[in-house]
Amino acid sequence: MKFDFFNESTPPLIGVDISTSAVKMVELSAHGKGGYRLEGYSIAAIPKDAIVDGNITGLEQVSDAVKLAWKLLGTREKRAALALPSAAVITKKVLMSADLRETEMETQVEAEANQYIPFPLEEVNIDFQVIGPAPNNADEVEVLIAAARKEKIEDRIAAAEDAGLKVTVMDVDAYATEAAYTMTAAQLPNGGKDQTVMIVDIGAVMMHINVLHDNVSVYTREQAFGGAQLTQEIQRRFGLSIEEAEIAKRKGGLPDSYEIEVLQPFMQSLSTEVARALQFFTSSTQYNRADHIVLAGGCAGIATIDVMVQDRTQVNTIVANPFQSMSLSSKIKQQQVSIDAPALMIACGLAMRGVD
Ligand SMILES: Nc1ncnc2c1ncn2[C@@H]1O[C@H](COP(=O)(O)OP(=O)(O)OP(=O)(O)O)[C@@H](O)[C@H]1O
Ligand SMILES: [Mg+2]
Repeated sequence: MKFDFFNESTPPLIGVDISTSAVKMVELSAHGKGGYRLEGYSIAAIPKDAIVDGNITGLEQVSDAVKLAWKLLGTREKRAALALPSAAVITKKVLMSADLRETEMETQVEAEANQYIPFPLEEVNIDFQVIGPAPNNADEVEVLIAAARKEKIEDRIAAAEDAGLKVTVMDVDAYATEAAYTMTAAQLPNGGKDQTVMIVDIGAVMMHINVLHDNVSVYTREQAFGGAQLTQEIQRRFGLSIEEAEIAKRKGGLPDSYEIEVLQPFMQSLSTEVARALQFFTSSTQYNRADHIVLAGGCAGIATIDVMVQDRTQVNTIVANPFQSMSLSSKIKQQQVSIDAPALMIACGLAMRGVD
């Protein structure tokens, strides 16, 4: 496979997000002028503890989930783009002379990497991309270097390839989210231009924060908080299995006390966590506010969560839907898509790499 965080032109492929709670897949095709069409998506649950801290501990379970997700997607395409968790990737921006040839640049990237990567170089995969001219010096360019342990990459490839897929791209989840965000930005005034936007992805166990200013990432952070807490509380209160609790969460059918005694308090703590994240951001950067909050991840599927977060933070808050302006295949239900969309940001961003 081609190991490449940054490669932009690839043949058609499906976006495959292997995350703590599920394998999520998205397939897109080109539509109209520079647009996309959502051909399909699927979500297949991963058993608890098969992925811990972003590491695959139950290879067979994960690979079975990949198999199921692919079957549910109902495609023939086997080429896949995967993402590593940002926490598994070390990135660094360096300046280099603008007139270096590709091979000279590679040599220099290795030398740079040698200095800041805490592992032997033979254990890591390195990739780099020229971002553009250096801010203060026309003779230099800014280069972004990304490196990850080979074993982390290989584990993910094994999970996908054991399920019959062919991995052609390995990206970083935060970059994929940013790519999908460009579709969501259309939901914001002025397309997010000149504005500070805090993307908050609230998944099963982690809250991933990525703040963009003028559509460029300026800050990232993770806080341990996620929907698994709500699932556990449902299990405990109503004596349900984890699977039953997950279904009840999405489809309803719990006793009346659920809303007020379980769901509302969870939504309150979620809003408090977002407010804390915002406070951390403003107190540790040059920015003193955010103009918008974009909620993503499975927990953004909770009805009216955007209203509560907005009340708590006093910042305009929307729920991400990268498919909003896309054309939808006839087999897809509009209403279900808007509930599932926030959890599909990474898979969507990955799938976008297969469409020119
Ligand atoms: N419609 C919904 N309403 C409420 N909760 C939901 C809904 N859909 C998904 N969730 C919850 O969102 C969580 C999964 O979100 P997501 O798929 O973003 O997590 P993940 O990416 O697997 O986890 P992480 O990012 O922590 O690795 C689960 O706790 C799930 O119960
Ligand atoms: Mg996630």
